[in-house]
Amino acid sequence: MQRVFSGIQPTGIPHLGNYLGAIRNWVTLQKDHDCLFCLVDMHSLTMLWSPEALREQTLASTACLLASGIDPTRLYNQSAVSAHARLGWIFNCVSRLGWLNRMTQFKDKAGKNRENHSAGLYVYPNLMAADILAFHATRVPVGDDQRQHLELANDIAQKFNHDMGVEFFPQIEPLIPPHAARVMSLRDGSKKMSKSDPSAQSRIILNDTADDIAQKIRKARTDAEPLPSEEAGLEGRPEARNLLTIYAAMSDRTLADVLGQFAGQGFGTFKQALADLLVETLAPVADETRRLMGDRAHLMQVLRQGAERARAVSEPIVSEAEKLVGFLR
Ligand code: AMP
Ligand code: TRP
Repeated sequence: MQRVFSGIQPTGIPHLGNYLGAIRNWVTLQKDHDCLFCLVDMHSLTMLWSPEALREQTLASTACLLASGIDPTRLYNQSAVSAHARLGWIFNCVSRLGWLNRMTQFKDKAGKNRENHSAGLYVYPNLMAADILAFHATRVPVGDDQRQHLELANDIAQKFNHDMGVEFFPQIEPLIPPHAARVMSLRDGSKKMSKSDPSAQSRIILNDTADDIAQKIRKARTDAEPLPSEEAGLEGRPEARNLLTIYAAMSDRTLADVLGQFAGQGFGTFKQALADLLVETLAPVADETRRLMGDRAHLMQVLRQGAERARAVSEPIVSEAEKLVGFLR
């Protein structure tokens, strides 16, 4: 059975982009793969953070993932398993500055003020490679924004193997969904839906009430044209494309099929149908998330047990990597 690893930053409540780009596929994969899903709290220190918020958001994200259907035995938080940090350091010394300099996510996140960002933000893709390879995972379900980081992980694995003269780390295969791998902001069709967007209206989160969802879709930015009948008619209309893509992904239909249904109509009818569809799937997740958030002891217990299992899988792999690089034990 192939091993699957994926992670999500506990920097806020997961949103619709996380759900369609990642979480929904994790739930499917866990049926026939050996899966590990990780709240990457160490990655969350790469941007400014508050300890209290990190604790709360780690628990809230745990609740959301469980409510979405993630198997509790496969879920844990990164910092509880030392293999991540240990292999992360080795990979800091395998990865090349030239490779990191190409990472577009660093450029986006650091913006103009590069000098003032943490060193962690810069080397974060090395830690991400370690997250996966500490388990010898071979399949990694992520949204489109992580593609470049996975290419880097393969470069790191290959260089480690080459330099140590071994075939130790496997190559990994990104599993990126064919549709809705990049859900855009509801306020601006040129920006990715993101936990860090200052506008709460830009995203639907997994503990929104039915009213919140309906209101956010009603207020979502659109244009004045009716909906086209063909995909070519979405050219230059990123907001319309985004909402239609969300509709198609949520209903497991093709974009062409959805366009066929709504062609020529205004956004009013379509938005109502989209809100209904989102509420139908997400409102039960939100209700269950709120219920689980009331039971902190249970959430802590889930993370502790998950970490124990993750330790058992990663320990022999990372110990072997440490031996290969020459560390004495
Ligand atoms: P993050 O919230 O950055 O920790 O992302 C967790 C997972 O969700 C990763 O697999 C991302 O690729 C995916 N993801 C994040 N934002 C989006 C988005 N707007 N659309 C699709 N997938 C996303
Ligand atoms: N970098 C990913 C993100 O921000 C989260 C992540 C960390 C991850 N480690 C990972 C995803 C390992 C897949 C595999 O979205």
